Amino acid sequence: MTSSDTNAKYLFMWLWRRYLRRYTGLLLIALAFMALESGMTAGFSVMMEPLFDKAFTSSNRSILVTVGVVVLVLFVARGLASAVHKVILTRAAQLSMADIRQDMLNHLMTLEIGYHADKGPGQLIQRVEGDVGAIAKVWSTLVTGAGRDALTFVALLGVAFWTDWKWTLVALIGLPLMIAPTAMLQRYVRQNARKVRDIAADQSTRLNEVFHGITAIKLNQLERHQSRRYRVLARDRVRGETRSAAGSALLPSLVDIMSGLGFFGILYFAGTEIQDGSKTLGEFMTFFTAIGMMFEPLRRLGAVSGAWQVAAASIERIIEIMHTEPVLVSPSNPQPRPDGVPSVVLDNVCLTYGDTPVLRGLSFTAEAGKTTALVGASGAGKSTVFHLLSRLVDPQTGSVTIGGTEVSAMGLKDLRGMISIVSQEALLFDEPLRDNIVLDRTVDEPALTRALEAAHVQDFVPRLERGLDTRVGPRGSNLSGGQRQRVAIARAVLRDTPVLLLDEATSALDTQSEAVVQKALEQLAEGRTTLVIAHRLSTVRNADKIVVMDAGQVVEQGTHDTLLAKGGTYAALYNMQFGAEAD
Ligand SMILES: Nc1ncnc2c1ncn2[C@@H]1O[C@H](COP(=O)(O)OP(=O)(O)OP(=O)(O)O)[C@@H](O)[C@H]1O
Ligand SMILES: [Mg+2]
Repeated sequence: MTSSDTNAKYLFMWLWRRYLRRYTGLLLIALAFMALESGMTAGFSVMMEPLFDKAFTSSNRSILVTVGVVVLVLFVARGLASAVHKVILTRAAQLSMADIRQDMLNHLMTLEIGYHADKGPGQLIQRVEGDVGAIAKVWSTLVTGAGRDALTFVALLGVAFWTDWKWTLVALIGLPLMIAPTAMLQRYVRQNARKVRDIAADQSTRLNEVFHGITAIKLNQLERHQSRRYRVLARDRVRGETRSAAGSALLPSLVDIMSGLGFFGILYFAGTEIQDGSKTLGEFMTFFTAIGMMFEPLRRLGAVSGAWQVAAASIERIIEIMHTEPVLVSPSNPQPRPDGVPSVVLDNVCLTYGDTPVLRGLSFTAEAGKTTALVGASGAGKSTVFHLLSRLVDPQTGSVTIGGTEVSAMGLKDLRGMISIVSQEALLFDEPLRDNIVLDRTVDEPALTRALEAAHVQDFVPRLERGLDTRVGPRGSNLSGGQRQRVAIARAVLRDTPVLLLDEATSALDTQSEAVVQKALEQLAEGRTTLVIAHRLSTVRNADKIVVMDAGQVVEQGTHDTLLAKGGTYAALYNMQFGAEAD
């Protein structure tokens, strides 16, 4: 069968070792209070004896009062003990779930952008939130229920055996018959629970896309289409949830069937012995009470096993993530980052995404301290070059070096610390504008002010309600595209790295701001190794070198003037854009 059969014990041990064991102290305290609660229950039954044999038979009122007070105290203590262990268990459960969520987040941030692109945010959010939540919901029930019920079951079984072992065996005659159907039901519950979790993840993806794409949905009138897609998932989820619940509910019912068989056996077997006079009615009543009480915890244990299957489905999904190892990691013996301003060299680089070749033997050099422009049609692989330099992806073959050192030989921190990227889509976080620019570093005020001026962020800050302390909204939604891009430029100014990568860095700006920001970027580029991607060729004509790419290869390179003179691809592109002016 599929992964839904992953050894339940393995799943539980994984959870226990990594996340539950550290709270053993809390669990033990909770257990103590559980024992206290059971003790009080037992104590109450013990009080029946003095009540019937002493209090009721004497005329002394004070005995009545004493017994009454003791019973009262027992009940109060029982209530308190029960509340305390519930609170402690909930706390332990929540603490361990918070640990799992934290670890998942930390781990997910180490995984490649390809992994994230494949799964999508909705799916991953659902795993961190939904799957962990599903475990939290059942596991304190598991601890409370399973422990107490198993103990009670064993104790009552002892009483039954002690009364009459033959009767006990007859009563349990249905037990072996339960094993196969129980296993089948458990698998059924687990499969459906897993299906439910998968659908929940798809639903999250839908919601995530709808809420991010709300503008596109409204403008393209996709409300009904999206609503329908969601409804289909919702219907499947209802079916899965119902089946999983039905399976869970049938598990304790199996115990009922077994009890029925047991009772039938006992009534006949013990009945004949009583009719023959070899056993007394009293003996039968003791036995019958013990067996009758035994089935209740057994039923609950059946229910617990259903709940466990639901949790197991979620644990499997969590383990799937935690066992996905990041591929792009720092080497174990990283080389030091090159000093000074480095050159950037790509040599015969090939890269495919799946079966699609994106870069096909790409080679070019970006001289140290100079500006190199990458131009070419959409999809030519320009942005991919930036991903290679910052090691968001690795090439299949070929070498990518910065300052003579392979990027894969450097520590990721060192490498990314050398590079600033300003890209098409400037991503902001739901934090104050200042934090979005400073990015978790300490920056002195004058340096910040200079960066704000240089990136022309200062142009719009005074118009914001709370200036630099204005929250920019999720993904920076409260700012315009051009404003976001200027924030990204300010970040780069502050980072002050030897390598600067500009990917359509001014594409979202109006012509006037673009001219101003363009000048700021040219200043910023001075003394750094800069790679510029731009479709508007006017912005790259001053570059020291222009590399023209087509379908993952370099087709020509040189300065603006030499390329124009050559009359090749670049000249054709340029004349198309500026033909009117050139005439
Ligand atoms: N994560 C990915 N998975 C699969 N294919 C991808 C992925 N990222 C990029 N590609 C493909 O790689 C090719 C190059 O993409 P890239 O973003 O480098 O193009 P580009 O030259 O920057 O284009 P543009 O000028 O439109 O920004 C494209 O054909 C794209 O479909
Ligand atoms: Mg691009």
